[in-house]
Parts: sequence; structure tokens; C-alpha cells
Amino acid sequence: MDVQGKTAVVTGGASGIGRGITRCLAQQGMNLVVADIEQGPLDDVVAELDAAGTAVIGVQTDVSQLTEVEALAGAAIDRFGAVHVLCNNAGIGVSGPVGATSIEDWRWTLDIDLWGPIYGVHVFLPIMEAQGEGHINSTASMAGLYAGPSLGPYNVAKHGVVALMATLERDLRLAGSNVRASVLCPGPINTNIVHSQRNRPAASAAQHVETETGRKFWDLLTRSLAEGMDPDDVGPMVLEAIVDDRFWILTHPSMARIAVDQIDQMLEDRTLSR
Ligand SMILES: NC(=O)c1ccc[n+]([C@@H]2O[C@H](COP(=O)([O-])OP(=O)(O)OC[C@H]3O[C@@H](n4cnc5c(N)ncnc54)[C@H](O)[C@@H]3O)[C@@H](O)[C@H]2O)c1
Repeated sequence: MDVQGKTAVVTGGASGIGRGITRCLAQQGMNLVVADIEQGPLDDVVAELDAAGTAVIGVQTDVSQLTEVEALAGAAIDRFGAVHVLCNNAGIGVSGPVGATSIEDWRWTLDIDLWGPIYGVHVFLPIMEAQGEGHINSTASMAGLYAGPSLGPYNVAKHGVVALMATLERDLRLAGSNVRASVLCPGPINTNIVHSQRNRPAASAAQHVETETGRKFWDLLTRSLAEGMDPDDVGPMVLEAIVDDRFWILTHPSMARIAVDQIDQMLEDRTLSR
């Protein structure tokens, strides 16, 4: 796809990977619709892009609410008349062993990390089909390819996002559609995701069961992400997939080895290694 002068919607665009994607697409001459639940950082990104000459609007959106995703699409069409690229990127995480994961931890995570992309596809695909052109990208994770410990809801959501996007891409090709799909599976990126609770409603947060194992895992993750890739380096990878019609976007391709090893183990000895 030639992106110049076209319109992109990026959810979770006010921070981290989403902000990196937003900046990159704006630099390519796209119009931007930035969606985020957090108004302050959203205003900052919109002001930054506007000052750089991008045609941009910010739409405060909770991607876990279908009506808000529908309103986001309405705002994008009202302002720009079309949506050519959707990046379903908003996401959060919470840690703990599956046995100590509260129902509210499951709901909060799946509502945002899995239902968010499902709503995005549901609402924006018909718009792109009607235009005869479009690209839907969703941010999954290496956790969508390999389910490590202490991240049950996140792993389930991200495996779901990979499955959603792979099915979508195959369905689109089978139908001869000009709309394409891709999935971003980042490794460690230095973002604010370790502070995911900042956007969690208090009543939901109160249902989280804090465990020693979960806390240790989160501390480890926090240290690992602090040394991770700069999120501004991820944007060009997503752009390349959109322009060149590529499905898989791996920021750390060597990490996919753990998924391959797991398949080898499945075929060879059928146990699950730690
Ligand atoms: N940082 C990493 O190492 C890493 C690795 C793999 C995958 N990811 C994925 O990348 C995506 C972006 O996360 P990030 O690391 O940039 O974190 P981040 O916290 O920096 O950015 C996430 C953005 O999503 C927004 N958001 C949260 N809940 C929302 C909701 N309900 N509706 C709309 N917006 C909401 C936040 O306000 C924030 O601006 C997520 O899907 C995450 O799971 C991150």
C-alpha cells in the first residue's frame, strides 16, 4: 500500500509502541487518528504531531467498549472520510500464577487485549472492504507464540490475537480482498506497560490478588523492558509490513526460537519444559 496522504487509526497511540507507530506513520505523510484511554498523554501526542504539520485528531477511547470503538470509527470518518490503516495496539498486562488469578484480572486483561482487537476488526473491516483497500495490524507479543509462566490472561489474550489476525489474513486472501492483515509480536520494548495499572479502574484493581511469584516476575519484567528496544524503532517495522504486505512482524526474530523449540518438544518427548 502507498500510505502517503492516507489515514491511520492507532489505538494506545499515546505511549510506548503505539506512539512510535503513530510518529512513524505521520512522518510518511499519513493523516493520524490517535486513540487512547489516557487524555493527558493523548493531548501531548496530538500537539506534537500537529506542530510537525500532520493532520491529526485525538479520540479518547476505551477499546474494551464496542460503542467507544464505533465512536472512534465515526470520528475518523467524520474528519478524514476514510480509514486505510488500523493498528489495534492498546494493551495492558498483569502478573501472577494462573491459580491465583482473579476473575477480574482475567476480565480486565481479555477485555482490553483480546476484545479490543476483535472490536477493532469488527468495526473497521467493513469500512476498508467498502473502500476496496486497507490494512489491519494488531499488536500481539512473543507471549502470543509461547506461553511462559505468571502471565496467564496476557498469554491467552495474545495467543488469541495471533489466531485472530492469522485467520483474518487467510480469510481475506481466500476472498480475494484487497484488505490485508498483519501481526506485531514484539520482544522486550522499553515502554510504560509495566505501569499498566495506571489505567485500571479502582474497583477492578481491588480484585487483583498480589502474590510473591507474580511480584517477582513483574520485577524481572520491569528490569528486562528497561533495557529493551526503543519503541520508536518499532514503528518502521510496522510501516514496512503495511507497505510490503507482510504478515509477521517480529522485533526480536531470534526469540521465536522458543516457540520452535516448544514444537520440537511436542513432537519428540511431549513434556513441557520450564
Ligand atoms: N513493551 C513490551 O515489551 C511489549 C512486548 C510485547 C507486546 N507489547 C504490546 O504492545 C502494546 C503496547 O504496549 P506498550 O508496551 O507500548 O505499553 P504502554 O503502556 O507504553 O502503552 C499502551 C497504551 O495503551 C493505552 N491503553 C491502555 N488501556 C487502554 C484501553 N482500555 N483503551 C485504549 N487505550 C488503552 C495506554 O494508555 C497506553 O497509552 C500492548 O498491546 C502490549 O501488550 C508490549
